[in-house]
Amino acid sequence: MLRRHYSGKRGAKHLCPLLSAHLRLECTVGVRGSRGDEQAEEKQKVASGEAVSRLSRRESFLPALIALGSGALLLNKSLNEERAYEGLHQELFALLSASGSGAGEAGKDVRALKVLEIGVGQGVNVKYYPSGCEVVGLDPNLNQDAMSVAQSKAKARNIQWSALEGRAESLPFPDASFDAVVSTLVFCSVQDQARALTEVARVLRPGGKFLFVEHIWAGEKEHPVLHRVQGIMDPLQAFLVNGCHLVRHTDDLLLGETKGGDGRDREGVMLFDRVERLNYLEMDTQWPVSVQVAGVLVK
Ligand SMILES: C[S@@+](CC[C@H](N)C(=O)[O-])C[C@H]1O[C@@H](n2cnc3c(N)ncnc32)[C@H](O)[C@@H]1O
Repeated sequence: MLRRHYSGKRGAKHLCPLLSAHLRLECTVGVRGSRGDEQAEEKQKVASGEAVSRLSRRESFLPALIALGSGALLLNKSLNEERAYEGLHQELFALLSASGSGAGEAGKDVRALKVLEIGVGQGVNVKYYPSGCEVVGLDPNLNQDAMSVAQSKAKARNIQWSALEGRAESLPFPDASFDAVVSTLVFCSVQDQARALTEVARVLRPGGKFLFVEHIWAGEKEHPVLHRVQGIMDPLQAFLVNGCHLVRHTDDLLLGETKGGDGRDREGVMLFDRVERLNYLEMDTQWPVSVQVAGVLVK
């Protein structure tokens, strides 16, 4: 016998472990024998069941390809969503640049933009702030290590950074002391949303901006399954994730307190004057907080 069979298993494994779990490449190398030899050998394989198992190995290509294809699609979707989310943050934070005192007014000194970030967490937003601004981070669970990292990142971008412990419901600052307030994924956790929003408006100067990105309870009509799942999961989520609630209509609260609130105006005094930007987002990859609202309100 002058033929040797090589299983390509090992080579394929180097190329892709997932592929190699399904693929059994069989390549034949060496000097070919006569046609009669080949037929006799094939018959022997059929008798021994080897040819049948080779067939079933080939059939296992299909699930492997489907698995790979679905994996690639999911990865692509997740990368696209991540890029879009990142892009949206950059656009929103860029809107803060025009909030500095005297910005755009000829002959007036433009002092540094002063921003309060409530629920600053790990300081992940430091990368979005415009260079030259001053940021005060506030959180009831202030993480000093994370704040040191954020501070050095801020310094490298010429941002003056400080942080203190506190709650959005009782901000330790005088009225009208900030040009902007930022809140990303915080109103899900505050104990008293209405009080926190009143405090945000109080510390903003007239014309100051409130930037928010918040997850909300998915609509019952638009997302019936997610809506129900969020309702069921809410107590567990709040217990496991530091008081984070899945069933809050934060968008209604914010827009209901804004005169130009997307047709949701009500009579009476409102905390904010207009909506500068408003986006609703749906991101499957952030399940179960897939539905979010983002925007900028102007006081
Ligand atoms: C999901 S994390 C978001 C952190 C950060 N803003 C981000 O986007 O990654 C929620 C943060 O809100 C903080 N938080 C909870 N209750 C708060 C309150 N009453 N006032 C201010 N921050 C609060 C938590 O400590 C936590 O750091």
